[in-house]
Amino acid sequence: MSEEIFLLKQPGKINNMVTRNRIVMSSAITNMAAPDGSVTEQMIAYYTERGRGGAGIVNTGYSFICQRGRAGKYQMSTADDRNIPSMRRLTDAFHQAAPEGKIGAQLCHAGRQTTRDTTGYQPEAPSPIVGTLPTGYIKDVPEEMSVKRIHEVIDEFAEAARRSKEAGFDLVEIHAAHGYLLGQFLSPFSNQRNDQYGGSFENRTRIVLEVLEAVRAKVGPDYPVGIRINGDDLMDGGYTLEDYQKVAQSIEDCHFADYISVSAGLHSPEGVAAMVAPMAMPMGFLEHLGAGIRSAVKNTPIFIVGRIKDPLHAEGILQRGSADFCIMTRALMADPDLPNKVMQNRLEDIRPCIACMQGCTDRTWSQLDLTCLVNPVAGRERFWAKLTPPPRKKRVLVVGGGPAGMEAARIAALRGHEVTLWEKSDRLGGAALLAALPPRREEFGDFIRWLITQLPKVGVRVSLNQPASSEAVRQFAPDVLIAATGAFPEIPKHLNGYSRPIVSNVYDTLSGKTQTGHRVLLVGNDTQTIECAEWLADQDKKVYLISGAQTQAWEDPWSAIAQDKNSFTGRYVLMSFARDKIEFLPFQMLKSIEENGVVISKTGEQHPCTTSVRIGELEDKFLEVDNVIVHLRMQPVREWMHGLEGVIPSIHLIGDCLEPRKALDAMADAGRVSREI
Ligand SMILES: Cc1cc2nc3c(=O)[nH]c(=O)nc-3n(C[C@H](O)[C@H](O)[C@H](O)COP(=O)(O)O)c2cc1C
Ligand code: SF4
Repeated sequence: MSEEIFLLKQPGKINNMVTRNRIVMSSAITNMAAPDGSVTEQMIAYYTERGRGGAGIVNTGYSFICQRGRAGKYQMSTADDRNIPSMRRLTDAFHQAAPEGKIGAQLCHAGRQTTRDTTGYQPEAPSPIVGTLPTGYIKDVPEEMSVKRIHEVIDEFAEAARRSKEAGFDLVEIHAAHGYLLGQFLSPFSNQRNDQYGGSFENRTRIVLEVLEAVRAKVGPDYPVGIRINGDDLMDGGYTLEDYQKVAQSIEDCHFADYISVSAGLHSPEGVAAMVAPMAMPMGFLEHLGAGIRSAVKNTPIFIVGRIKDPLHAEGILQRGSADFCIMTRALMADPDLPNKVMQNRLEDIRPCIACMQGCTDRTWSQLDLTCLVNPVAGRERFWAKLTPPPRKKRVLVVGGGPAGMEAARIAALRGHEVTLWEKSDRLGGAALLAALPPRREEFGDFIRWLITQLPKVGVRVSLNQPASSEAVRQFAPDVLIAATGAFPEIPKHLNGYSRPIVSNVYDTLSGKTQTGHRVLLVGNDTQTIECAEWLADQDKKVYLISGAQTQAWEDPWSAIAQDKNSFTGRYVLMSFARDKIEFLPFQMLKSIEENGVVISKTGEQHPCTTSVRIGELEDKFLEVDNVIVHLRMQPVREWMHGLEGVIPSIHLIGDCLEPRKALDAMADAGRVSREI
């Protein structure tokens, strides 16, 4: 099948630099740098693994070129000569692991997209207009930059490029996308200056070209310099493809940039979903922007991004001429070996990114270091990348065939244990099978399929229709028992009317065990509740969703739901789809469940003129519904383990069976336990 992949495997050329293929990992902040901006061992191990995996170019997450332009607390610094040695350790380790690999530094000034708390300074920007993060945490009005300060920043970009080159990076990329400082100058939305850096198109583009010119002067004609721009800001008042085609032409005409990397989106709710797209967005949804920019320039190589995870799809993009290089960033977080597997025609072994956001953006937006749901090794390469054989081969029994159980079994078997996996149903996948049912969540299924493909390859014996009992486990007599039996949604008994027949839970609803009527009320504020609500709405049911939470984040009562989803990207997309289909009842509490409906009670009301929530009038209302689906609490499934303690020499609980949490945590448990036994 992968004989069809031809262009993706071809070497590429950027200035004088030859890349071993056309697969690029674009910059993605890992939050693995030390607070002083130096490179850590964790970061070295993470990027080295991506180099070893065969990518053509690995660009490191955006670095800050000066303290005032810093966007986060754990960003790499290109702002200071003192950081050259630590960056050199990274590039040396990378080149040692991947002599043909190329590693780049992205140079960024955040402009208004940062806080005083992050930088210690008032943010600076083309105009004193506050940044636009949908979480609302950016509140500082930036200082309007003087022309003198603009010239200083241009020098700071050039100095940062010099340091990157001295530190051994193979290329630098100027970050002019995603609404950071250079993007802020481009967009009339954020640039309202009247001087030579504002007003006309030429004036707004000036700083970008001057940065490129200064960088080029510093690094010389042969050193690869790229630039990342948007192909569309996807925001009212922002730039469109047509505008960015002109920007790209100006960049090409100045002859200082060796490639243009095309992305999209600003820090608006819609924009962030384009910057890093969740599962709900179609794969390759930005291809037209790559094609649009490519058609506007003559020779400059174009990189395109946007949910490209399948090498065959990437090949199609290249064959259609929409770009010269394909960015597969999260695909390489999920599987750093993807390029090698493409080269070896092992496409079915590629562990797929499922665009869940849980390990990457959900964490990095919260200033945590990056990992990956499907690949818990990401961020833990130092201690997990190499598997070590156990001191003694053991008989390992894994009970529960969800993702965590399968991953634990896979790693234990790879290390050399004799592993058996019991699954009580006739299919592997566990709760992830249900997670894959709602609309636009199908990709959970890709990960399950990957795990199922891998188990026989590593010698795991799988027994389906094999429920676990204390007796059965005793008889099997494993040396090690890994319990991965998950959790079930419990209906809290404090709910008045909780035992009525119309009450059910999300799992039974999705699995079809509960037959739903035409009018359904969902109670719960996590992602699964909303996804189930959407799934029911897609079946033409009248669906209500209730939430008593009173929050003003996003200035929108809808933000009270999907509280478990840190990433406002995923949350926003979820909401935007759900909004049209579901009747949301904000500021309401469930008072009692009756035979044919519920009594709900108002907890507050939105102020008619502002976004504040006030107490308002308290009133009860009866709502007629056929089903009440409650998703408020999960209980671990452990009854089957009674009496095993002290009988089985080594017992480990993982995932929801240990403590109900997210799939990300369950996978990390699996990774840890399977390496410790
Ligand atoms: C955790 C994370 C951090 C990111 N940080 C940056 C960054 O530092 N600079 C940048 O230009 N883009 C950043 N991005 C965007 C990525 O470069 C890329 O455009 C995005 O992940 C979409 O590509 P993909 O669908 O192949 O993952 C980040 C993305 C993620 C997931
Ligand atoms: S955490 Fe999810 S979105 Fe992020 S790289 Fe891993 S699978 Fe992809």
